[in-house]
Amino acid sequence: MIDKKVNLSRRSWLIRTISALSTVGMTAWITPFVKFLAPSAKARGLGAPVEVDVSTIEEGSMKVVEWRGIPVYIIRRSRSDIASLQKYEDELKDPNSNTDQQPDYARNRTRSIKPEILVVEGVCTHLGCTPKYRSEKVDGLFTGLFCPCHGSTFDFAGRVYSNVPAPTNLRVPRHRYIDDDKLIIGSDRLVS
Ligand code: FES
Repeated sequence: MIDKKVNLSRRSWLIRTISALSTVGMTAWITPFVKFLAPSAKARGLGAPVEVDVSTIEEGSMKVVEWRGIPVYIIRRSRSDIASLQKYEDELKDPNSNTDQQPDYARNRTRSIKPEILVVEGVCTHLGCTPKYRSEKVDGLFTGLFCPCHGSTFDFAGRVYSNVPAPTNLRVPRHRYIDDDKLIIGSDRLVS
């Protein structure tokens, strides 16, 4: 009888021990996979919103920042740049920004929150080259954004002209202003 009791308590101790060891083993086995699946701090940093001071950008010039590994152009347009936006609309593929290349608040003629500031991804929608920005006509050359790879042209709002290889307007990333001069690229929510 006593032997039976001893055996029972020993068996129950064995079961508890094996079960505890299994839990520890399983945790040790699974942890590297969970760590592998979780985004690293570097990866999270790459996708994080970027803050930009726009006060230092002079009229007719551009600042380039990197966000998610791509260049984002912040261009301060002059009055004549803004006025030019309605002059050539019949030469554009998508003058009203009907394709989904921008947030709703940038679905307007200037494709921006502030008319004087354009925020646009510096990636050609044809094959991904980096368009050049030319603010002034020199020797009769085109003004706006010009892709040197296959000759696509975009106006001062990043809208693509007809008869060029790029199929759509340049993308406008999500963005917002936190004050007159500070711009956040990559988030348009108050809490990001
Ligand atoms: S990549 Fe820009 S025109 Fe081809």
